[in-house]
Amino acid sequence: MAKKKIPKFKESVGIDIGSHSVKIVHLKRLHEGYKLLNYEVRQTVPQGIEYLPTELRKDRFAPVIAEMLRSMKISPKKIQHLITCIGGDNISIKQIKTIFLPDEELESALFFEAKKHLPISGGEMILDYQVLSVEEKTNNMNVLLVATTKEEMNNHTNTLVSCDLTPSIVDAQALAIANVFALNTYVEDGSYIILDVGAHTTNMVVYGPKAKFFSRDIDYGGFHFTKDIMKKHNLSFEEAENFKFEYGLQGPEAQTQTISLSALDISEKPTEESIALEVKRSLRFYVKEAGNSDFKKVLLIGGGSKLIGLPEYLAENLNLEIEIYDPFYNLEMPEKFRDKKDPQLALALGLAMRKE
Ligand SMILES: Nc1ncnc2c1ncn2[C@@H]1O[C@H](COP(=O)(O)OP(=O)(O)OP(=O)(O)O)[C@@H](O)[C@H]1O
Ligand SMILES: [Mg+2]
Repeated sequence: MAKKKIPKFKESVGIDIGSHSVKIVHLKRLHEGYKLLNYEVRQTVPQGIEYLPTELRKDRFAPVIAEMLRSMKISPKKIQHLITCIGGDNISIKQIKTIFLPDEELESALFFEAKKHLPISGGEMILDYQVLSVEEKTNNMNVLLVATTKEEMNNHTNTLVSCDLTPSIVDAQALAIANVFALNTYVEDGSYIILDVGAHTTNMVVYGPKAKFFSRDIDYGGFHFTKDIMKKHNLSFEEAENFKFEYGLQGPEAQTQTISLSALDISEKPTEESIALEVKRSLRFYVKEAGNSDFKKVLLIGGGSKLIGLPEYLAENLNLEIEIYDPFYNLEMPEKFRDKKDPQLALALGLAMRKE
């Protein structure tokens, strides 16, 4: 969103500040493509501590980022090309169609349109847009509008500045998620459903070169899987986290403790079912709105995509092909990183690969 003229750069850094973990990717720009120099993933809440959304403090990020940069030997002041992103409730994206307008009139006209289309409440709105295409026959423009509040942007900037970083490009998270795919895989048609399964949220994006852009935040993620396991097997948060990493959705039913009566609540759906339902609901809406149902695949990224059994569950329930996306596909990888193609890093990598 906030843009500055960017000089040619040799190295770039992408930072994905998630509610659970910060992900940093450091790339070197090659004549063609990129080489991975280094990356790191670090939790923002100490291991084993159950972190409740209401108790998450915004000031926990800066010390973690500063420590990661130190350990990766990146000097914040010397970063030539830094890309970060913001997401969440205070950011809104919508694709609209408008009559053709010259550049000088576009911004003010879009500001007016944005107020109509985007539900940003309170505070001053910051607007960004991208012209996706101009239709030959009608001369209409397809434009992607992105809006957020000044307060949201200031919070983000303050976190970066307090680690001595100079914010240059701040992307909208949903666009950055689409970019992870668009920058790495060449496709001509169809649409792709990308699910970034985080800790508190699963960000769903529908993207295709000719398809209508769509994004939605689903309020379930890795944290809710852990909660399910705590209830189902009567475990503490830390025990449930360990269980989740070891068995995923395929828990060894027979060996676990009996479920306590109070934990039995048949009205509650398991997290995987809630996610699948929300995805299906969103796709029905998308098909109606965009008139397009040419879905090729579902691509999973984010830490939660590593949950054992989740891809299989989604394949069966959504009736679509599922793939854990390999974000390192096009990257030159030093030997030490070869077996570490972690989908949790996808967004940070997509950010670092953004040229301008
Ligand atoms: N191997 C694994 N198996 C199961 N879950 C995992 C695994 N590795 C990480 N996770 C889960 O992934 C989540 C963290 O993923 P990620 O870093 O993408 O989230 P985040 O970006 O911090 O969260 P959000 O996007 O919701 O703000 C945690 O819930 C963590 O327990
Ligand atoms: Mg995330």
